[in-house]
Amino acid sequence: MRTLTKLDSESRHARRELDDHIKGSGPLARHTVDSDGRRQAGSSSHHESARKHVTGKASYIDDLKTPADALHVALGLSPAAFGTLTTLELDAVRQAEGVVDVITFADVPGHTDIGPVFPGDPIFVDRDVSYAGQCLFAVAATSFQAARRAVTLATIEIDERPARLDPVAAVEQGELVRPTHVQERGDWQATLAHAQTLVEGTLFVGGQEHLYLEGQACVVFPTEDEGVLVHTSNQHPSETQKLVAEVLGIPFHAVTVEVRRMGGGFGGKETQASPWACIAAIIARRTGRATRLRLPRTADMQVTGKRHPFHNRYRLAIDERGVIQGGDITVIGDCGYSPDLSDAIVDRAMFHADNAYSLGNARVTGHRAKTHTASNTAFRGFGGPQGMMAIEAAMDDIARQIGEDPLTVRKRNFYRKGCQTTHYGQTVDQIALLHTLVEKLEKDSDYWARRNAMTAFNASSPVIKKGLALTPVKFGISFTAQHLNQAGALLHVYTDGSVMINHGGTEMGQGLHTKICQVVARELGLDLDDVRISATRTDKVPNTSPTAASSGADLNGMAARDAASRLRERLFDFAAAHFEGGLDREGMRLEEGELIAGFGESEYHLPWGELVQTAYLNRVSLSEKGFYATPLIHYDRSMGQGRPFYYFAFGAAVSEVSVDTLSGEYRVDRVDVLHDVGDALNPAIDIGQVEGGFIQAMGWLTSEELKWSDKGALLSSSAATYKIPTFGDLPPVFNVSLMEGHPNSMASLYRSKAVGEPPFMLGISVWSALRDALSSLTHYRCSPTLDTPATPERVMLAAQAIRPKAL
Ligand code: MTE
Ligand code: MOS
Repeated sequence: MRTLTKLDSESRHARRELDDHIKGSGPLARHTVDSDGRRQAGSSSHHESARKHVTGKASYIDDLKTPADALHVALGLSPAAFGTLTTLELDAVRQAEGVVDVITFADVPGHTDIGPVFPGDPIFVDRDVSYAGQCLFAVAATSFQAARRAVTLATIEIDERPARLDPVAAVEQGELVRPTHVQERGDWQATLAHAQTLVEGTLFVGGQEHLYLEGQACVVFPTEDEGVLVHTSNQHPSETQKLVAEVLGIPFHAVTVEVRRMGGGFGGKETQASPWACIAAIIARRTGRATRLRLPRTADMQVTGKRHPFHNRYRLAIDERGVIQGGDITVIGDCGYSPDLSDAIVDRAMFHADNAYSLGNARVTGHRAKTHTASNTAFRGFGGPQGMMAIEAAMDDIARQIGEDPLTVRKRNFYRKGCQTTHYGQTVDQIALLHTLVEKLEKDSDYWARRNAMTAFNASSPVIKKGLALTPVKFGISFTAQHLNQAGALLHVYTDGSVMINHGGTEMGQGLHTKICQVVARELGLDLDDVRISATRTDKVPNTSPTAASSGADLNGMAARDAASRLRERLFDFAAAHFEGGLDREGMRLEEGELIAGFGESEYHLPWGELVQTAYLNRVSLSEKGFYATPLIHYDRSMGQGRPFYYFAFGAAVSEVSVDTLSGEYRVDRVDVLHDVGDALNPAIDIGQVEGGFIQAMGWLTSEELKWSDKGALLSSSAATYKIPTFGDLPPVFNVSLMEGHPNSMASLYRSKAVGEPPFMLGISVWSALRDALSSLTHYRCSPTLDTPATPERVMLAAQAIRPKAL
């Protein structure tokens, strides 16, 4: 036993109130960077890999070293979209220089279906070809060039049939990947039948290629006992572990999956990183050699699914003030050839068919169309953005119909007192925040003065027209599959006091690892640099959920916090019992790298490193695991009712555009964003997410156009034919702020809110502003049809279509 020195109370802070975050989900501490500059949850610390990203020291899959005899894989892909494989002659491939192994469907030792949720995704084509780019065989060779050359020597014959590419026709023919789902609330039929005014429309919303900078890639090492170690660029290591094990026919514990970081995922590596790991694992096991599989960009674009294109229809009953009384909305998701995640994605489109507006008595129907393209998959927003587009289109239509400003109409339709329940039965909490946020943005962005100036400008400018739009976002946070809302963490403290945290989430650039380190630093009163995170591994934290649904920080942060607070409590118990001189267990705290006990005159301090050493010498465990499961959420799918979301994140954006209505060319002149992240976990990273999300959505709705041939071959299969935003497309004025003073009303991680996906949908304001500019051609009397992406070509055609209506 040793007695602690009593420190001069005057040199220490005055008696402090016990920080309520020790006890539960209290508000964010006032000082998240403490007086010694320690950076914890709540502070704007830079991304843990920022320096490594810009100096090239951050390692991605291609940077991993492999032994000299490692193999490289190239894939043989189907040139046809739909038909029957009649010949697959691979002798010449096998004999080609450098080729070590060639595998097809027949060589798969275990499961051949690698569908992530529902069956339907064969690892290789057996007989039936379902899309152009589907995998027929794989070649492993001593170099990537040799593997690619060998692939071209295959003889492939496919008895081709006409591909079905139209999702609307697919629904009419009953060709669905999953059954149709309906959500209903109130007597919507009667409301529509007695409507004073009906607003109707249809809208095609295009898909989107992920274009992550690091493509799909993995390296598989064979290990002892028939196992494999898989390094992969992957949002869902546990699922890949399961699928690799099943394909090899070995237990899950023989497969370890490791993910240090991704060069972007955006949903494209939630399910669709697994097939490559499965193929490489089969080859690694057959040959006993390390095996690399990286998709060249064009193959990546052809083989993997994209954001679902949607066809939306709406029929709404409104009153004379443009307030929706009820309606009927149908969304058709183009799922491609298999279910993948489409059930949940179309569900999320349905859950967001209201966006921020009360629909009244409404029915929302979601169809999952089966077409002969790659299986469409998760993409930032997960169907939510496509669902919201219908109601945002309708808001503009209503405004033209009743001759009021679209912002006025939007505000009238917001969820409000008395109209607070969604069409799926969840009460919208924090509606005051939605109203306050929009009012603040309206003022800060000078909406009305700019609107007036613009109307005057447009009146005297026959060709160049300006447009302005404010659109809101309300986005539900939680996985809609309830069981995915759980997370685990593993915390180690070493005897020098340094801390290692591991958790089930993956880093894809969004700053998750930084935030988790900040959480642990805060719980243990340390600096961010005292806490390190290691790669995500299935042998450290098991049975994890994908890092998706924006809930990576919410779930894993809570699990890490659970681990850290358990360890802290154990250290407190130890310290209270161990040290002579009466350390009071009550009120003990870890702050600024010290254990502090007592207050004022009798305040004792012990450096963290010493505390840890002493605990170790006294045989106290310095390791903990943590767990979290989101409370309260449920959804009864058969009734289409429930509370699927723990909370909602809000935001709003104002975009201003100038359009040349003869050529269709346009530019975004100014964007103002105000976004709600509750009490921010890391304001700098959160603002980065808002900016990135906005620009990504702007690209989706304006320049990024997917094109297929009539036979179902992807034509936009490289960065030369698919245009994502570049520096030159950045709005010259881009003001992004986080809403302050509105903590999450739910007991989330320090009252923060998820930020990964919600800001994506702020980009809808650009599309709405383009429609606003076009509408000015008719003195704001007509609402133009403007499918997306609203390329200059589509804008020009829309202008041509609407101009005669001015007369
Ligand atoms: N930010 C970067 N830089 N890269 C990404 O791939 N993915 C987005 C979003 N932000 C992504 C990103 C998507 S689709 C999701 S679901 C969330 O991050 C996932 O991370 P989170 O849950 O930790 O926010
Ligand atoms: Mo994000 S689409 O949920 O990976």
